[in-house]
Amino acid sequence: MKTAITELFGIEHPIIQGGMHYVGFAEMAAAVSNAGGLGLITGLTQRTPELLAKEIARCRDMTDKPFGVNLTFLPTFSAPPYPEYIAAIREGGVRIVETAGRSPEQYMPALKAGGIKVIHKCTSVRHSLKAEQIGCDAVSVDGFECGGHPGEDDMPNMILLPRAAEELKIPFVASGGMADARSLVAALAMGAAGMNMGTRFIATKEAPVHENVKEALVAASELDTRLVMRALRNTERVLNNKGVEHLLEVEREKGKNLKIDDIHDQVAGVYPRVMIDGDMDAGAWSCGMVVGLIHDIPTVKELIDRIMADAERLIRGRLTGFLDADTGANLKVA
Ligand SMILES: Cc1cc2nc3c(=O)[nH]c(=O)nc-3n(C[C@H](O)[C@H](O)[C@H](O)COP(=O)(O)O)c2cc1C
Repeated sequence: MKTAITELFGIEHPIIQGGMHYVGFAEMAAAVSNAGGLGLITGLTQRTPELLAKEIARCRDMTDKPFGVNLTFLPTFSAPPYPEYIAAIREGGVRIVETAGRSPEQYMPALKAGGIKVIHKCTSVRHSLKAEQIGCDAVSVDGFECGGHPGEDDMPNMILLPRAAEELKIPFVASGGMADARSLVAALAMGAAGMNMGTRFIATKEAPVHENVKEALVAASELDTRLVMRALRNTERVLNNKGVEHLLEVEREKGKNLKIDDIHDQVAGVYPRVMIDGDMDAGAWSCGMVVGLIHDIPTVKELIDRIMADAERLIRGRLTGFLDADTGANLKVA
């Protein structure tokens, strides 16, 4: 399948693995890139720019396909040295960066001077247009369903994607709620040139996380995510667990007066406890509603091959079948 995104990034399939804290290590990125998608190392999971440089080198040893690095600009307890992270990306020969959290405007000159293609992930049409205006090459349009930070507009992809298509000139991928061929074909129908998946990629053999995390994803339904930190205007969609229930109780008690310190224990330092130790009640970690569509733990290649084969069947069989009354193919469910 050829789209503006496969051409832009030099990849075989229009599928991107979004940056994920404590998941986006070299193993994850390389597995996705080797399977023909675009894998991303999560920059800030590496505590220093030197460690990121090493992770990039490790990934380079595992794949000769294009891969990228995610750079997230979110409110953190201490601001990371972004220029040094960008230097590590440039010196490591990485030519694709996914930015997220807030506008990358301030860092665009450094990224562009390194010949880097920038795909900015954001949750609204206005932020997508801003990304286009400051010279981003593509946008990852992240709907309200998404795991992680859906913003404060609560706009689901059924509306957000066609709205993005109405306004944008640069290509965009659909992000949030994407799991399979149905997601991909629907996203393409709404004007996207591919899709970005987060949560779905965690439930794969190669995802370098504790088995408990993968099993929790298979066990959970679409009803099991919660929104936290609304009152702080830093909303995050997470998988429910005992830590999250406690956090929500504190949020209910404090209401509008909530301070980040009130929930520090349920949001800070949680990722290593979940992803490495497999402590599934530790607190808030990002997870999308798409968890309801995850029923197995395939290899990344099996997952991507299945998506592409099913997408072809969906398009050639089900969709063109609707136009071909004689075959009766339109009665078949995918
Ligand atoms: C466990 C986890 C951690 C994530 N960490 C980050 C991150 O550090 N930076 C970022 O830009 N997005 C992060 N995301 C968001 C993903 O890159 C992606 O945009 C999102 O998962 C898409 O929604 P989906 O989960 O429905 O596929 C994370 C998502 C998950 C599930």
